[in-house]
Amino acid sequence: MTFDQGLDSIQATLNELEEHLIAEKDKAIGYPCNASFNYEALYRFLAYPINNIGDPYIPSNYHLNTHHFELEVLKFFEELTQAPAGETWGYITNGGTEGNHYGLFLAREILPDGIVYYSQETHYSVGKILRCLNLPSIMIRSNPNGTMDLNDLRENLRLNRTSPPIICANIGTTMKGAVDDINGINDIFQDLAIPRKYLHADCALSGMILPFINDAPAWNFAHGVDSLSISGHKMIGSPIPCGVVLAKKDNMTRIAENVEYIGSRDTTLTGSRNGIAPLFLWYAIKTHGHSGFVQLIQQCLERAEYAVRELNKAGQHAWRHPYSNTVVFDRPLQSVVESWQLATHGPISHLITMPNVSTDQVDRLVAEIKAKPVIGSNQSPYRPSPTGLTGERTQPSQEIILIGSSGVDLLDAVATAMGNAGISIIDMKTSSIDEGCLLILTVEERDKAIEIINHLINENKYGSAHVEICDQDSAVISQMNFSQAGNNSALVKLEDHAGALGSLTRRCQEAGIKLSSARIIWRGDESTVLELTTPNSGELKQVLDSSQILMLPAQG
Ligand SMILES: Cc1ncc(COP(=O)(O)O)c(C=O)c1O
Repeated sequence: MTFDQGLDSIQATLNELEEHLIAEKDKAIGYPCNASFNYEALYRFLAYPINNIGDPYIPSNYHLNTHHFELEVLKFFEELTQAPAGETWGYITNGGTEGNHYGLFLAREILPDGIVYYSQETHYSVGKILRCLNLPSIMIRSNPNGTMDLNDLRENLRLNRTSPPIICANIGTTMKGAVDDINGINDIFQDLAIPRKYLHADCALSGMILPFINDAPAWNFAHGVDSLSISGHKMIGSPIPCGVVLAKKDNMTRIAENVEYIGSRDTTLTGSRNGIAPLFLWYAIKTHGHSGFVQLIQQCLERAEYAVRELNKAGQHAWRHPYSNTVVFDRPLQSVVESWQLATHGPISHLITMPNVSTDQVDRLVAEIKAKPVIGSNQSPYRPSPTGLTGERTQPSQEIILIGSSGVDLLDAVATAMGNAGISIIDMKTSSIDEGCLLILTVEERDKAIEIINHLINENKYGSAHVEICDQDSAVISQMNFSQAGNNSALVKLEDHAGALGSLTRRCQEAGIKLSSARIIWRGDESTVLELTTPNSGELKQVLDSSQILMLPAQG
C-alpha cells in the first residue's frame, strides 16, 4: 500500500475492500459472527470521539461517553444471567477474551494462591491470559463431546487440595459448542469440602443462546458462577468486536482504585474504552427485544438441525449439542475449508448457523462437499458417542493415506512394520488393482507411524516401484482410478493387539494369496472384525484355519 494517494485512488482502494467484503460475506459460515444487522441509525455518532474511559457506573471527567447506554446494556445482561439484584458489576469489553482476562484477573486478586483448571477444549486465548497473569494452571481432559471430564477434574482437585481452585468453565466450547457441567463442578467442590474457590464462565457465544431456550443447562450466577464473559459481536452482531463481563460486585471492589486524573474508579482492564460498541448493543437489544431474541435463537437452532441432517445425508458425521448452533462434521478437503471459511481442528470442522446463515448456504456447502468427497470418510474410526449425539467422533483422526504403484504390497509391509513398532491400527482400508494400490490407515501415533513408513520408503525396499504418503486431495484423484475390489470377501475375527494384522498378511503373502481389499468393519474391546477380499478364497480359508483365526459367516 502506498501513502499519499490521490482521492480517486483512495476511493478505488476502498471500493476494492468493499467488493472483497461483499464477496467473502457470502461464504463466511465457520465463525460465530452475526453478519446480519443494520446500524445505519447510529452512523451519525461516528462523528464524535466517544470514549467510555473509567467505571461505567461512576460519572467521569470526560463527558463524551455513552455510560448511560452501557449501563442499560449491562442491566439487560444481568437479567439474562440471573444476577442477584444489585450484587453484580460489569462493563462492556472489547470481546470475549477481555472478559475472560478480567474474570481471571479478579480470581487471582481474590485467590493469589489459586490454581486455574481449564479443559483441553478451552479457547486458545485462555492459555495466553494465564501466562499474562502468571497463574499456575492445570489442563483437564475433555470428553469426546467437548465437555470437561469431571473425573479428571475431581482427581486433580483432590491431589492439589492445599491450593484453592479457580475453574474456567466453558459455556459453549469454541469447536463443539459444549457446555461444562456446572452443577457437577459444584458437587465436586462440596464432596471435597473446598471452601475457597472461584468459578469463571466463558460464555462467549452460548451466553446469548441459553437464556432464550427451554431446558438450558446450568451456566450462570444462579448456579454459583463468580464472573462471566459474553461476546457482543457474536450472536447480537456488531461491526466492532465487543463483549460484556459481569462479576460479583464484592470481588470487584477489592481491586478498585480511585484515579484523580479521570475522576473515576479504575476498575476496568483498559483505560480508554470503546463507547460506540455499547450503542450498537443497546440498539440491537431495543430493536429485537426479548421475544425477538427468542425467535432469532430458535431460527439458528433449527438451521443447525437442518445442517446436521443434510450433512449426514451426504455421508458426513455431523452432530451438535441440542442447545448449540455449532455443527461439527468431518473435516472436508482444504479447498472447501478455505472457500467456506470453516473453522477446523484436526479431523473436525464446524459451521455455525448464526442469524445470517441460510439453508441455501448450507445446501451449497453440502453440494460442494459431495462433489469433493474425502476418501475414507465413510470408514471413519469414530463411533457414535454414548451420549447419543449423531455420529460424534470419540477420538482425533490419525489418518495416513498411501499410494503405491503396481506390485507393491502396501498392506503387508505397513501392517508388519506397525506391528513390529507396537503401533495399533485403529482403522484401515485398502484396495488394489493391477495399476497400483491405495491404503488408508488410521493409527494411534501418526507421527511415529509416518516416520516408520518414510523409513520403509527410503530403504528403497520397493525397487523401481513407487510408494508415497499423499494428501487427501491427491488421494481422492487417485481413488477415482481404483475400481472396486471384487466381491469374493470373507469376514475374519482377529485379536485386537498390535501385530495381529501384520502376522495375518504375512501368512497370506507366504501362501501367495493376493488381498485385493481389506477393511476393518467392527472394533470391539478385545477383537476386530476385518473384511478381506481376495480371488484366492480357498487358500485364504486354509490360512485362516491353520492360524486358528475365526472366519465369520458371510453377511446377509
Ligand atoms: C469459547 C470462546 N471463548 C472466548 C472466545 C474469544 O472471544 P472474542 O473473539 O470475542 O474475544 C471465543 C471466540 O470464538 C470462544 O469461542
